Amino acid sequence: MPDKTTLSVIKADVGSVAGHQVIHPRLEEIAEESLKEAQEMGVLEDFYVTHCGDDLELIMTHRQGVDSSKVHELAWLTFKKATREAEDLHLYAAGQDLLVDAFAGNVRGLGPGSAELEFEERKAEPVAVFMMDKTEPGTFNFPIFRMFGDPFCSAGLVIDTAMHEGFRFEVWDIKAHRRVFFDCPEELYDLLAFIGTKGQYVIKRVYPRADQVVEGEAVACVSTDKLAHIAGKYVGKDDPVAVVRSQSGLPAMGEVLEAWSWPFLAAGWNRGSHNGPVMPITMAQNRVSRFDGPPRVFGLGFQVGDGKLVGPVDLFDDPAFDPVRQQAAELADYMRRHGPFEPHRLPMDEMEYTTMPQLMAKVKDRWEDVA
Ligand code: F6R
Ligand code: MG
Ligand code: MG
Repeated sequence: MPDKTTLSVIKADVGSVAGHQVIHPRLEEIAEESLKEAQEMGVLEDFYVTHCGDDLELIMTHRQGVDSSKVHELAWLTFKKATREAEDLHLYAAGQDLLVDAFAGNVRGLGPGSAELEFEERKAEPVAVFMMDKTEPGTFNFPIFRMFGDPFCSAGLVIDTAMHEGFRFEVWDIKAHRRVFFDCPEELYDLLAFIGTKGQYVIKRVYPRADQVVEGEAVACVSTDKLAHIAGKYVGKDDPVAVVRSQSGLPAMGEVLEAWSWPFLAAGWNRGSHNGPVMPITMAQNRVSRFDGPPRVFGLGFQVGDGKLVGPVDLFDDPAFDPVRQQAAELADYMRRHGPFEPHRLPMDEMEYTTMPQLMAKVKDRWEDVA
């Protein structure tokens, strides 16, 4: 049996420049040195270090499988090294996402986010890595649904015989820590009934229903870690990542990108407390600014071959995405004019991990009963 390849994307915010805007290049250099060493020791096959806004992103290929403690520990130690540099440089929120002191087998629950796929490489294996800043895992529900469930986005669902069989969605209830599977298209309405509530029900993985890939292999995976639920207090948004396999009976790369061609609204932005439009950005635009945002998505495309990463391609670096960015900027204006009012500001229950409870406690004895 051929060796399986695992593509792991593990990320953390360990400090940034000028507030929460952008990572410092030294942190990326440190991460590169750390992963290079691991590659020389045979832990990794290949890697690519990048960032999305203030998040340090480790894109890694290896033979250790999903949830490998070796790979997770490598990521953890890399974030630790970057944190030390962030502290020396007096970067903002140094070490923010490392919620515990010691590594415990897996980064899940410790602060960093991870999305991983293990697969038998097809003859040519195109993948997309999507990284978001200033938003939460459920923000991926809309575009992932569009890629694998919406025939108005992915033409292949109608006219490619393999895609026509549909896809199976694994949905996690991130509050109750349980999961459920929906087979689409027949359970499309059931799926949508849940994933519209994106703060609780989150698409974790997608599986094909024909034989495009080896049976049981997922073709998309999203990080579902919720920092607030882990820490019990506000420590920043989760800024999720996702990996998506593409082509040959899976959504074409152009369909995977089409899912981002409209700036839908997502929760996050300033203080993790505001709805705003998701703006697809290029490497040159890869930092947040206005009102600490707006929420953005950065995409890199690769071919995975013999465990190596060929690429990347800056997926949103195309004038065809300029109107989306323009529309997102206009929507940002529109939303901002609501100031502290909903639906720009999130509802109270979604702000329970901010400083809102302290403000409510301040007036708690001043309420008078009315008839
Ligand atoms: C959002 C985010 C920022 C901060 C904001 C206030 O995820 O990280 O919008 O919430 O800049 O940060 P502090 O309270 O650290 O000054
Ligand atoms: Mg930050
Ligand atoms: Mg961030």
